[in-house]
Amino acid sequence: MINDMYADMKITLTKPFILRCFLISLFLSLPFLFFYLFFPHQQPLHHSVTTKDLRIRPGYSSYESYIQRQLNKTLNPRLRKIWTTRDWDRKISVFARFFQELKDKKLLQNTSKALCIGARVGQEVEALRRIGVADSVGMDLVPYPPLVVKGDFHNQPFANDTFDFEFSNVFDHALYPERFVAEIERTLKPEGVCVLHVALSRRADKYSANDLYSVQPLVELFKHSALVHVRSVDGFGLDTEVAFRKKIGGPTRHQRL
Ligand SMILES: *[C@@H]1O[C@H](CO)[C@@H](O)[C@H](O)[C@H]1NC(C)=O
Ligand SMILES: *[C@@H]1O[C@H](CO)[C@@H](O)[C@H](O)[C@H]1NC(C)=O
Ligand SMILES: *[C@@H]1O[C@H](CO)[C@@H](O)[C@H](O)[C@H]1NC(C)=O
Repeated sequence: MINDMYADMKITLTKPFILRCFLISLFLSLPFLFFYLFFPHQQPLHHSVTTKDLRIRPGYSSYESYIQRQLNKTLNPRLRKIWTTRDWDRKISVFARFFQELKDKKLLQNTSKALCIGARVGQEVEALRRIGVADSVGMDLVPYPPLVVKGDFHNQPFANDTFDFEFSNVFDHALYPERFVAEIERTLKPEGVCVLHVALSRRADKYSANDLYSVQPLVELFKHSALVHVRSVDGFGLDTEVAFRKKIGGPTRHQRL
């Protein structure tokens, strides 16, 4: 009798108890559900700009897989050997000629603090130093001391307003071209110069992450800079040189306005 009563009580107690547990756990999981819905942990890659004249290549499932693919080329021992032997002097002399021309146009000086983005083994850095731009450094995913330090061009390891001059011939490797350009504009000093070598009339290599069909997308991406010149070059498969000068007041001075 007492046992039966006890059993009845247990049942009536248990039901609301389970319900309460359920409601509490539902309540506790709400923030996670909310977070999951509004902040998908693996950001899909279609956030990148794609316009008629700038197309992001499909096929990267995550930023990690993109970086892995870039590293695959950069770490290739056969290519690294070629870059540091057969290619070394030939490339340095071509780069030195390009940079000398930029000096003649007053876009670069011996006293410029210069950065080469995606420099691999640093032939362009060596070229800058040889023509007298002593304070030059390169940046790439894989460092090559002393010419090239480690860094991702989507997130440069440098403070705002650091450089007078930035050069890159790897724009086509940028998965997020708008980040690539924003980082250049952030780390350039006001009136600093950015020179890009890009391929417009032929497609770059299989490691490219984007394809560019005109200069227009670049002009739009360099929001805080003025276009200085566009000219044809013959730069290791890249056919066009585009130069920009960062305006005084943008983008690192925004907060003061
Ligand atoms: C690069 O990719 C190839 C195949 O696509 C693979 O065999 C090789 O191991 C990779 N190399 C590196 C350094 O990841
Ligand atoms: C810049 O450096 C180069 C190489 O050291 C030198 O020949 C040249 O005279 C320098 N130019 C100026 C303007 O100082
Ligand atoms: C650096 O520049 C970025 C973008 O222009 C800006 O958002 C940031 O606040 C700046 N950082 C500092 C420390 O001034």
